[in-house]
Amino acid sequence: MRKPQRIPPASGRLGVLLPGFGAVATTFVAGVEAIRRGMAEPTGSLTQMNTIRLGKRTEGRTPLIRELVPLAELDDLVFGAWDPIPDNGYESSVRAGVLHRERHLDPIRDFLAGIEPMPAVFDTGYVKKLDGPNTKRGASKRDLAEQLRADIRAFKAKHGCDRAVMVWCGSTEVYVRPGEVHASLAAFEKGMDENHPDIAPSQLYAWAALMEGVPYANGAPNLSADFEALEDLARERSVPIAGKDFKTGQTLMKTILAPGFKARMIGLSGWFSTNILGNRDGEVLDDPESFKTKEVSKLGVLEHILQPQMYPELYGDIYHKVRINYYPPRGDNKEGWDNIDIFGWLGYPMQIKIDFLCRDSILAAPIVLDLALFLDLASRSGLGGIQEWLSFYFKSPQTAPGLYPEHDIFIQHWKLKNTLRWLAGEEQITHLGVEYYE
Ligand SMILES: NC(=O)c1ccc[n+]([C@@H]2O[C@H](COP(=O)([O-])OP(=O)(O)OC[C@H]3O[C@@H](n4cnc5c(N)ncnc54)[C@H](O)[C@@H]3O)[C@@H](O)[C@H]2O)c1
Repeated sequence: MRKPQRIPPASGRLGVLLPGFGAVATTFVAGVEAIRRGMAEPTGSLTQMNTIRLGKRTEGRTPLIRELVPLAELDDLVFGAWDPIPDNGYESSVRAGVLHRERHLDPIRDFLAGIEPMPAVFDTGYVKKLDGPNTKRGASKRDLAEQLRADIRAFKAKHGCDRAVMVWCGSTEVYVRPGEVHASLAAFEKGMDENHPDIAPSQLYAWAALMEGVPYANGAPNLSADFEALEDLARERSVPIAGKDFKTGQTLMKTILAPGFKARMIGLSGWFSTNILGNRDGEVLDDPESFKTKEVSKLGVLEHILQPQMYPELYGDIYHKVRINYYPPRGDNKEGWDNIDIFGWLGYPMQIKIDFLCRDSILAAPIVLDLALFLDLASRSGLGGIQEWLSFYFKSPQTAPGLYPEHDIFIQHWKLKNTLRWLAGEEQITHLGVEYYE
């Protein structure tokens, strides 16, 4: 592949457009503002905090990632959102109950209240547990998607943005298998004209973004830009896309632990994962069709990491089960239990129990920030289509057709950093290291 020459600087404002202005999106937006005002640290964000080693260990070159590649500054970010629920950023973040009201929301109340969600393209057939009045009307799905394009243009003009990115932070839509209508751009566009039932709202946002040259990432597990029609469009127009389903909480833990078991050739007979959560996301996932979308996304990781076909005696017979239980008293403060049945030398069994008292949106917010800045970097670097190097952030990484996804978080991390080195014209790091002993 052609090596990028000089990456244009990230000058001017970057619009960050968020379909879905619930817990994750408001925690992200409020967090960025709190960080801009010096009230908090960007914990969990690689673009803000992580360093990157360059050259030999003896060279002592370890800049911050944001010193190596030109990323947009937090001060240059401007936020826009769509949501069928008309709550402004302050009302929505108070309702989400993630951030401390007196400590983190009230001091930036005016800023948050100033972000009003635009009317959404929304369909209760796709998200059955929610409804809201702040929606668009249109003669066809094409018409609705064209209205989204007009929103994007109007937003950029109003806020003087040179560039924009879109990150889907909307609810998980019901499970849809890619069909004929998703197989080519022509079929998809005809389907929009004819209101094809398998074209979900999130797909219309993705199409609108790509048509406007706006990179698109999908933070939820539903089918959105991960099918041929939109992958072709992204490649043709050289617009970056990435997905899907933010890797937070339980799956993050799974993709940290499973590579360790495999690295040590420790066997696995079962992994039972259950969750209780009480936020709006939990309510949406209480619907079996939305849960099915999430389940498929969560179950895939072990198989790809452990490669049972190569190690049938260690991983050929795993019982993997994932449950999500809506339990309102817990709010956004989810509890995820894992019972892991492993076996070692001579097949002797052992168990590991994990009880992760996590905060979903606290884990997701820095991912939204990093995706926004890295997608914008990819766009300025001339990288269009699927951005596999951003797999690090997703439960179901999007890859080229026929290529299995890398789920191992350590491989993903290495891939991300090597891509940054490559973009900056630096050497890849192999960790071979024999030269230190010659
Ligand atoms: N928090 C996490 O750790 C995490 C991890 C992975 C994935 N996700 C996914 O991220 C998404 C957001 O999570 P959340 O906790 O913020 O949920 P949330 O319910 O608080 O917010 C989602 C918002 O999307 C809105 N929405 C639904 N359909 C829409 C549409 N067509 N257009 C515009 N807005 C729409 C809803 O009204 C709601 O306000 C969910 O799909 C969730 O599954 C979250």
